[in-house]
Amino acid sequence: MDVLFYAPQYRPNLSSMIRSAEFYGLKKVYIFDSNNLLLPPTQSKKARAEMAHMAKVWTAGAIEYVEIIKIEDVDAFLSNYSGRKVATILDEDAQHLNNFEFKLNDLIIFGSEKEGIPEHLIANVEETVYIPSLGKTPCLNVAVTFGIVIHHALKSSGIQ
Ligand SMILES: C[S@@+](CC[C@H](N)C(=O)[O-])C[C@H]1O[C@@H](n2cnc3c(N)ncnc32)[C@H](O)[C@@H]1O
Repeated sequence: MDVLFYAPQYRPNLSSMIRSAEFYGLKKVYIFDSNNLLLPPTQSKKARAEMAHMAKVWTAGAIEYVEIIKIEDVDAFLSNYSGRKVATILDEDAQHLNNFEFKLNDLIIFGSEKEGIPEHLIANVEETVYIPSLGKTPCLNVAVTFGIVIHHALKSSGIQ
């Protein structure tokens, strides 16, 4: 089971997702970092050390145990990915998460906070899944979505 974080915009969300990924036993995460959240500050050694420290604090140490793989060309990455690609999207026509069976070789994709996953990438995946709202709020925070989806994915694929 692999995961791709598409263009995350906020470090607290990215940190939470890295923490949850490691908690659920993932050894690596793919990140398309177009907002440069992973870039260390260049101005000083002290700033770099502070960022490394914050990364450990925000991920509760998980950053030490999970490999972060930066994706430069996301279209090429998806085209060459050998497993099934599953996008999490806000679309009632997508499959209800509760009814979806994940597979061991799936790549699950999570979108950016404001823009989600662009249409041209959604067109390039095999499956789309959706968590319907029971209230009036239209969508979940991406890090919350990640926790719900990864728990379900590991359960439905028989890993957990
Ligand atoms: C805040 S949402 C993005 C909202 C954006 N305006 C859109 O229309 O996609 C950030 C990401 O969280 C995930 N997400 C949030 N709520 C979801 C839901 N109810 N079902 C599936 N994915 C969801 C998706 O990966 C989405 O790209």
